[in-house]
Amino acid sequence: MVIIKTPRELNCMQRACRLSANALKLAGSAVEPGVSTLEIDNLIAKYLEKEGAKASFLGYGDYPKSSCISVNNVVIHGIPNKNCILKAGDIVSIDVGAFFEGYHGDNAYTFPCGDISKEAQQLLKATEESLYEGIKAARAGNRIGDIGHAVQSYVEARSYSVVRDFVGHGVGAKLHEEPSVPNYGTPGRGVRLIPGMTIAIEPMINMGDYKVKVLGDEWTTVTVDGSLSAHFEHTVCITADGPKIMTIPDDEVKS
Ligand code: MF3
Ligand code: CO
Repeated sequence: MVIIKTPRELNCMQRACRLSANALKLAGSAVEPGVSTLEIDNLIAKYLEKEGAKASFLGYGDYPKSSCISVNNVVIHGIPNKNCILKAGDIVSIDVGAFFEGYHGDNAYTFPCGDISKEAQQLLKATEESLYEGIKAARAGNRIGDIGHAVQSYVEARSYSVVRDFVGHGVGAKLHEEPSVPNYGTPGRGVRLIPGMTIAIEPMINMGDYKVKVLGDEWTTVTVDGSLSAHFEHTVCITADGPKIMTIPDDEVKS
């Protein structure tokens, strides 16, 4: 069942979303050569605790950390680790959810570590742009397939591929709600978008083939062909006036 939020509920959820965006921005500012992914996770954990929020992922299906940090060929669900030390040229996908006063916000961004290759820069740019194409399609009256089609056509035109095995999702009182929000699809198909729906749109885009596999830790998801992968995510509310991005950090909100 797709859950429609009231304006009051959306107001509560806005705070969780902004806290998750603040945490993501803080994490991104710490990305540099020599830093471990565990150190970045600790920053996120401390920030959320200070704000009286909980990390949405910690303990979710036994997930052990506050964030997912996925480097290079790791697509998603990289587990922060003190032995995973960032080096110049890495691309670092950080995914953070915050739970605050009953609601979750969920967002992700792929940060460059130091100077990265031209090819990697282009992958990051195209993946971020594909997220905004998906968001543009998230208009009341459209359907879920319109979002996926917008993302897929944008990245495939640039010879990248869309991960199929993981998708975006409704988000609210639960981290994962209906509907599923695939990053591929057919225009005009799927659940109709209605004002008050809140969804996480999160393209996971590979430089090579779309196939991924999950490693023995049951979380770390990598590209089968070893190619680079990028991940950008926003929590978005469907409104009568168009899509509203909810995961904007406090210092970037235009009042
Ligand atoms: N943003 C991801 C998602 O929405 C991260 C989930 S990690 C998990 O599915 F640990 F919570 F599963
Ligand atoms: Co998500």
